[in-house]
Amino acid sequence: MFAAARIEADGKSAFYDELVQQARGLLHGETNLVANAANFAALAWHALPDINWCGFYLFDGSELVVGPFQGKPACVRIALGKGVCGTAASTRETQLVRDVDAFDGHIACDGASRSEIVVPLLLGERLVGVWDVDSPSLARFDDDDRRGMERLCAAFIESLR
Ligand code: SME
Repeated sequence: MFAAARIEADGKSAFYDELVQQARGLLHGETNLVANAANFAALAWHALPDINWCGFYLFDGSELVVGPFQGKPACVRIALGKGVCGTAASTRETQLVRDVDAFDGHIACDGASRSEIVVPLLLGERLVGVWDVDSPSLARFDDDDRRGMERLCAAFIESLR
């Protein structure tokens, strides 16, 4: 049984150090995309404070389709270039949105979401999908979260090799 230890880190950088370690341990020895995405989303959901949704949109070769997640039921399909997720996928750059109402084209799945971070997932050059985390608080995510989420996602991508 995997027991996610409560993270008592001092500061975001140390918090993500610990979370990345837990993710590596959780995903170790398994390469299945759905299995690892599901466990990764569950780990993040229980570890990250002040969030209302976290999960994956997976690229099916033409658009993003919702994958394993935690939180309320979400929109199923998002075209590349649309919303925060589609923008992260098409630009291949993390989208850090401090206020979703100020992001032109933001797709509201859960009306409680006020800020959001979306990290593109690339296996080499191939787009696997995106990792999306929503918060009910304005400006919940900062550059420390961006760096931490990108490291967390790197651990996820590594598990698929
Ligand atoms: N807000 C996202 C849609 C996905 S939900 O947040 C789960 C977007 O604008 O792409």
